[in-house]
Amino acid sequence: PRAELTRAESLIREVPDYPSAGILFRDITPLLADGRAFRETVDALIAPFRGAFDVVAGLEARGFLLASAAAYASGAGLMPIRKAGKLPRPAAHVEYALEYGDAEVEAHADFPRGSRVLLIDDVLATGGTLVAAHTLLGELGYAAAGTAVLFEIAGLGGREAVGDPTLHTVFRS
Ligand code: PRP
Ligand code: MG
Repeated sequence: PRAELTRAESLIREVPDYPSAGILFRDITPLLADGRAFRETVDALIAPFRGAFDVVAGLEARGFLLASAAAYASGAGLMPIRKAGKLPRPAAHVEYALEYGDAEVEAHADFPRGSRVLLIDDVLATGGTLVAAHTLLGELGYAAAGTAVLFEIAGLGGREAVGDPTLHTVFRS
């Protein structure tokens, strides 16, 4: 219910100047620490996509926390999208630019081509991470079933960069 979600939102901690000056960090650990808020939030994250996906993909590291709960709650498979160098048999890898330096994500191809994948992460900022993840899913031959993010930071062009009309965010700044 709405009141429970409002309470959950109040549990997201704002940390100024972390990890560097001028950045307002959204810390979701107080929300995760509250069982009711955690469950309500994961339910709200997947609600618009019920029945429309076979797999939940989560982005290392914080996306894992939400994606595995979402997969369990919906009886779907879980696909970890990892930072480079952690998987023994990566089937695809995509490089992307961060504010400082570059990063790379990789995944295994454990699902049949055409599987419908719901992509989940905790925070949308510039969108670079989600764009890379979508490219990765495309390289593996999976179908994008939707994108769900816990917290959308507005004003950084993330939503436009992702360019996914299904993009669903539970909370936003
Ligand atoms: C953070 C956050 C998102 C991403 C959002 O991940 O969890 O995944 O940045 O930023 P973007 O929209 O500009 O790409 P980060 O890689 O910093 O750390 P994590 O491993 O703790 O998830
Ligand atoms: Mg992350």
